[in-house]
Amino acid sequence: MIELNFSNMMEEVLGEKGISERQIEALRGKIGDAHTQIKARTWPELAFIDLLYQDTSDIKKIAKYVRDNSDDFLILGIGGSALGPRAILEAISPFHNLKHKPRVFIYDNVDPRTLKNILLLVDLKKTTVNVITKSGSTAETIASFMILWDEMAKIFGSKASERFIATTDPDKGNLRRIANEKGIRALSIPPGVGGRYSVLSPVGLLLAEVIGIDADEILRGARDIHERCSEPEIWKNPAYVFGTLLYLMEREEKRNINVIVPYADGFKSFSEWFCQLWAESLGKLGFGLTPYPSLGTTDQHSQLQLWMEGPEDKVAIFMRVDDYGGDIVIPNAFEEVEGMNYLIGHALSSLIKAEEESTELALARVGRPNMTINIPKIDAYHMGQLFHFFGVATAFTGFLYGINPFNQPGVEEGKNLTYGMMGRKGYEAEREKVERAREKKSCWKI
Ligand code: PA5
Repeated sequence: MIELNFSNMMEEVLGEKGISERQIEALRGKIGDAHTQIKARTWPELAFIDLLYQDTSDIKKIAKYVRDNSDDFLILGIGGSALGPRAILEAISPFHNLKHKPRVFIYDNVDPRTLKNILLLVDLKKTTVNVITKSGSTAETIASFMILWDEMAKIFGSKASERFIATTDPDKGNLRRIANEKGIRALSIPPGVGGRYSVLSPVGLLLAEVIGIDADEILRGARDIHERCSEPEIWKNPAYVFGTLLYLMEREEKRNINVIVPYADGFKSFSEWFCQLWAESLGKLGFGLTPYPSLGTTDQHSQLQLWMEGPEDKVAIFMRVDDYGGDIVIPNAFEEVEGMNYLIGHALSSLIKAEEESTELALARVGRPNMTINIPKIDAYHMGQLFHFFGVATAFTGFLYGINPFNQPGVEEGKNLTYGMMGRKGYEAEREKVERAREKKSCWKI
């Protein structure tokens, strides 16, 4: 089971810069209210919790079809429709494309250079494309879908639909309509589940199954942590403690930056997934906790100086791994060289763990708060726990702030302006807004 160690957030360790039990106790009213909202499913978007009990047989069936018919699997999606699959892929199957088939490509932008390269690399005759968009209308995903559809139609004609899987809303949106009309195999993202909370839906689970990871094992992990994350008592609930401490650090200590620092290369994409979840869910109405992704030990040689001696506006969240699933012992080389020979006989895993612990300690010693999520092993079961833990923690923290952690009005504004610029019908007013803004923008140039 993953575990949260928050000693380095508390006044017993940090002195006056830490949080006291009394401060947490004083929040009991708000915490209770947030818990009630989650328990009573006051928001339809809390449907992400129901994903833990879904039947995965359709996902497994479609994954088998993909494995049997593809050398390459290309995901088209953006935001929550791409970050979750990538987090699973990179955590559980590092260097996947060099070792396994189908190879996986995740195209989550509209950079023409990237897509050109992907198209050069894959053999479209043996490629299955998974188009993932909850709304079925996101410009980036729809544009790349149109391009891939056209390419596939040139090869397969009326059978192009066999090369696609649509993951989208069960009823709404253009992608669902096209999937129904063209007979494209489709999986549903349940109506209440929003993009960034969708990793445990077919959005992430299809990719998992395609690369040979048991989706049920991911869900088993999520269900196990859910037992703890649904505890009403704050001191027994790691997701509530996590959210409450970061909330208090921001409200009372003005620490509004949350650096997530996994000590495992495989979690690099996971930290990007977390950043989207945290930023897009909590950044609204003038509130917000700014996440930024980092990587141990690499960023000790890039960012740590800032965390140690820079502005006192951050909290570090370390992710520590017990079992890396393999190890290498540093051999007896250069025994005679002082300053190198102390490493002989140590495993790389003990070096990375020592570095993680030293960083925690160094920060705590100068009154810089941090907490650590301990992960027994990087596998499907614990990935499920991590995803669900952060999902609950994010919704809960949003409720502490009294905001809606499920919408993203700021993102929608950007999407609408893009529609206007690209000439979509019904968005003429947005186009005018852009044109007016462009006039001002052209005044100042150098
Ligand atoms: O969390 C969200 O809802 C967003 O980040 C979406 O995932 C992103 O905008 C993509 O949306 P869609 O899946 O509808 O294409």
